[in-house]
Amino acid sequence: MEEKNLQWFPGHMKKAQHLIEENLRLVDLVIELLDARIPASSQNPLLREILGDKPRLIVLNKADLADKKSLDAWLKNFRDENIPAVAVDAVKGTGLKTLITLAKSLAAPKTNKFARAGAKPRSARLMIVGIPNVGKSSLINRLAGANHVKIENKPGVTRAKQWIKIADGLDLLDMPGILWPKFDDAQVALKLSWTYAISDEIHDLEPTVCKLLETLTEKFPAGLLERYKLENLPADSHELLNLIGRKRGCLVKGGEIDTEKVLRLVLTEFRAGKLGRVTLDEP
Ligand code: G4P
Repeated sequence: MEEKNLQWFPGHMKKAQHLIEENLRLVDLVIELLDARIPASSQNPLLREILGDKPRLIVLNKADLADKKSLDAWLKNFRDENIPAVAVDAVKGTGLKTLITLAKSLAAPKTNKFARAGAKPRSARLMIVGIPNVGKSSLINRLAGANHVKIENKPGVTRAKQWIKIADGLDLLDMPGILWPKFDDAQVALKLSWTYAISDEIHDLEPTVCKLLETLTEKFPAGLLERYKLENLPADSHELLNLIGRKRGCLVKGGEIDTEKVLRLVLTEFRAGKLGRVTLDEP
């Protein structure tokens, strides 16, 4: 996607914020989409400020890739803080019924208000916001399903807004709000690179992948052992890279390891969940 290659300069951030603020005026409820593998690192702290008192529903996407125990702990953590939260898989569609039920109940005060005021009843409106690659488009498409039709064009704005009816009394803005990832903290930036919220072009592959291997070796060794059919994991990540390279035939002429190839292989397999279910932030 284009946005993956977007480097976030202050000008971009201002523009993104402005776009979200503009759309915010049109909606009753906001879905803050987070990556279930990094529920803390995939947040943008400024969002709270931008949202003000607008109701917010936290949706932990890519739940299929996250460690199950950690996922439950995160959901409990949000609920303990009275923040509505739900885990979903936007590709398979898991959790979407709960999402819709929660969204409806959060929007109810607003819809009831219309009814009380005797106004022409209208559906509650919501929008999805999140950092790049967190699954915003996938979730919109999945929620839209067969209803992916233009149901209203709102006059008076430069660009017509498209709304999708996703349930009775619930319309979704067909355009997500793109938040910039917070990359000022080195640990957070690493997690964002591993999960591809930050483009591969703006960091050095080797240290990034070596740190990923060190983290997985420490916290989630089983996935590595199984995927690469290893009996044990060397403490040194370069040694581990060599082992993986040999196992997977990432070699150049003369039998040397093709480092670039094995680095990319590990990253791709991690992102696809082939190294096991992993959560990298603790509540
Ligand atoms: P964005 O709009 O927020 O930038 O994210 P987008 O929907 O484009 O999703 C980014 C990638 O994450 C896509 O993979 C998408 O398939 C994947 N994805 C989204 N939701 C989930 C989920 O719940 N579980 C899993 N496992 N993956 C998810 P891609 O490799 O970029 O594209 P493709 O696989 O669709 O070809």
